[in-house]
Amino acid sequence: MNIIRNKMIDLKVLGDGRGNLIPIESGHDINFDIKRVYYLFGMQDGVVRGLHAHKKLKQLLVVTSGSCKVVLDNGLDKQEYVLSSPEKGLLIGPNTWREMSQFSQDCVVMVLASEHYDEGDYIRNYGDFLEYIADKTNG
Ligand code: TYD
Repeated sequence: MNIIRNKMIDLKVLGDGRGNLIPIESGHDINFDIKRVYYLFGMQDGVVRGLHAHKKLKQLLVVTSGSCKVVLDNGLDKQEYVLSSPEKGLLIGPNTWREMSQFSQDCVVMVLASEHYDEGDYIRNYGDFLEYIADKTNG
């Protein structure tokens, strides 16, 4: 059902004596065109973000600083990831409920997204998400 499989990927690090650089290019490093970039920072202790799914959107999450926990849920199984390296990216396909928590004070989450912002693409209620998945699965 997911067009891309949720998975952690290793990003290509170009480093030299001056430091590191990671390029992320559509079609080379990720298999969708990037239409939007946003980033999250300044999360308070105990905050949980996400708590939604998308119908079409594909995303790559990169924690460029600090760390956080991400739980991905396809309606059947949940997978937990700890993102704590700017050298890793978490690919998230459509039809995936996500919850982000345990943000370190210095956490910055950069998100590369396949579509412009569209509130109509969100499913923000978990019961609605399970129904949406069940409808898709049943036909
Ligand atoms: P939301 O997606 O709920 O944040 P999170 O999943 O990280 O908790 O977005 C928070 C608010 O920001 C919401 O009012 C929608 C708005 N928003 C935009 O205007 N543009 C965007 O690209 C994004 C991601 C959110």
